[in-house]
Amino acid sequence: MSTRPSFGLSNFLLLVSWITFITQLCVAVEIDMEGLPDTGLNTSTWVTGQLPPLSDIWDLNDIQIAAKNVLSPRYYASYRTGALDEITYQANLNIWSQLRLNGYSFRNVSNINTRTTILGYNFTMPFFIAPAAEAGHTNKSAELSLASAAGKAGILYVPSISSTKSIEQIAAAGLPNQTMFHQEYIWSNQTRVIDELQRMEKAGFKAIVLTVDNTGVNGIRTRSLRYTGDEDDTGHDASFDLNSLANFRNLTSLPIVPKGIKTWQDAKTCLDLGFPAIYVSNHGGRVLDTAPTSVEVLLDIKKYAPEVFEQMEVYADGGVRRGTDVIKLLALGARAVGLGRSPMFANIWGEEGVTHMIQLLSTELQTSIQLMGANDVSKINSTYINTKLVESMWAQ
Ligand SMILES: Cc1cc2nc3c(=O)[nH]c(=O)nc-3n(C[C@H](O)[C@H](O)[C@H](O)COP(=O)(O)O)c2cc1C
Ligand SMILES: *[C@@H]1O[C@H](CO)[C@@H](O)[C@H](O)[C@H]1NC(C)=O
Ligand SMILES: *[C@@H]1O[C@H](CO)[C@@H](O)[C@H](O)[C@H]1NC(C)=O
Ligand SMILES: *[C@@H]1O[C@H](CO)[C@@H](O)[C@H](O)[C@H]1NC(C)=O
Ligand SMILES: *[C@@H]1O[C@H](CO)[C@@H](O)[C@H](O)[C@H]1NC(C)=O
Ligand SMILES: *[C@@H]1O[C@H](CO)[C@@H](O)[C@H](O)[C@H]1NC(C)=O
Ligand SMILES: *[C@@H]1O[C@H](CO)[C@@H](O)[C@H](O)[C@H]1NC(C)=O
Ligand SMILES: *[C@@H]1O[C@H](CO)[C@@H](O)[C@H](O)[C@H]1NC(C)=O
Ligand SMILES: *[C@@H]1O[C@H](CO)[C@@H](O)[C@H](O)[C@H]1NC(C)=O
Repeated sequence: MSTRPSFGLSNFLLLVSWITFITQLCVAVEIDMEGLPDTGLNTSTWVTGQLPPLSDIWDLNDIQIAAKNVLSPRYYASYRTGALDEITYQANLNIWSQLRLNGYSFRNVSNINTRTTILGYNFTMPFFIAPAAEAGHTNKSAELSLASAAGKAGILYVPSISSTKSIEQIAAAGLPNQTMFHQEYIWSNQTRVIDELQRMEKAGFKAIVLTVDNTGVNGIRTRSLRYTGDEDDTGHDASFDLNSLANFRNLTSLPIVPKGIKTWQDAKTCLDLGFPAIYVSNHGGRVLDTAPTSVEVLLDIKKYAPEVFEQMEVYADGGVRRGTDVIKLLALGARAVGLGRSPMFANIWGEEGVTHMIQLLSTELQTSIQLMGANDVSKINSTYINTKLVESMWAQ
């Protein structure tokens, strides 16, 4: 008589549950959240390489994790990377927790206004889409969906000169009532500079955002270099100085906004030279690592050259992921605040994703100023912010 055990029902069920468990382990996405604030994002139903539903996305950090899930590691690294040890990149994200907002009660906040002007042009929000190269690796619509989403939302978009689409194609993607500025680099090929400035003006861009923080070289972006190897010559002019700046100003009749101001001294220089605005930025931590955050630079300008805020417009960016981050930069004297990576990451869904990003940030901004007892972005001033902690560590 055989004693061989039969493969009974209970064993069968056990096997099935094991197979189900193992399959789930394979499908469930474990994503390194990179120390971003934990707001409970659950990616267990996401499939690597596939777009997660927008309904899973509740904030700008979620958007970054979604992009990490969808993009190839190489292209995710190219957008995400900072320079060297990414100390400035991390500081941009972490500085917000060292600033406190004052919220006042007993104020009528039944009607909130977020509209503002930038160089005299009307926009619905005091934040804008900053120049970022090569949007084409997130979605084949590339910069066209950024232009279109910005136009419908009534916010400013400043396309990069290193865009996937041409100056003219991006201009054509805008709405009739839309104002866009255009970023430019200081190429050592002067013919190229002249040609591009003329094309920008002809295509209807209203100002030139001139990036001055990586003349000659870019930062060494290790995280990205691991995939690409040494990058080609930037083509940027390393000899660019104040004389070249004066020469550059003669090449266009459009207003010029120097971008990448990292010291109060340079801010003052731009004021003395009669620029209508400056753009304080450390390039998202992608150029000089350990450069200060925009928060620290704005505090310095306030201390050593406060006239800058009265006599010219000041824009700022770096690590802005929340409506409260926007408010903090406004309270420190910025008129408008840029976003670099978030719109690029949101573009994995094309225009719909960028629109969702703008809506999330708009809602956070509106809600927060209401909770602060302010009813207009133009009224956000230094009485709304406590900077003592940052100043105790950052006193030049
Ligand atoms: C992928 C990428 C490409 C960028 N390309 C440019 C560029 O072409 N020109 C420029 O002036 N700044 C460029 N920047 C810097 C942004 O304009 C902006 O200063 C920075 O991204 C803001 O920081 P955030 O990404 O934390 O919002 C780029 C940034 C990123 C992330
Ligand atoms: C994430 O979602 C899955 C599927 O809905 C669920 O089984 C799991 O418990 C969730 N994880 C957490 C930490 O909430
Ligand atoms: C509150 O402000 C709104 C808009 O500014 C105004 O219309 C309204 O009359 C104010 N309410 C009171 C009670 O003052
Ligand atoms: C900006 O909006 C104001 C009203 O809020 C309007 O008077 C002005 O004409 C607008 N300016 C431009 C350039 O559209
Ligand atoms: C331009 O028009 C669109 C509607 O076509 C609107 O949504 C947008 O807010 C307008 N832009 C500005 C700056 O008011
Ligand atoms: C300089 O730029 C012009 C205009 O874009 C281009 O035609 C020319 O080939 C460039 N010259 C060099 C040496 O790259
Ligand atoms: C700029 O143009 C003005 C007027 O055409 C001229 O006087 C000046 O010398 C020019 N400056 C430079 C640096 O080319
Ligand atoms: C790009 O965006 C469109 C929507 O505009 C979307 O349907 C598509 O899946 C996105 N992805 C790619 C790779 O084009
Ligand atoms: C800042 O704003 C508050 C509230 O609107 C106002 O009472 C105060 O006078 C302003 N302070 C400065 C320094 O502008």
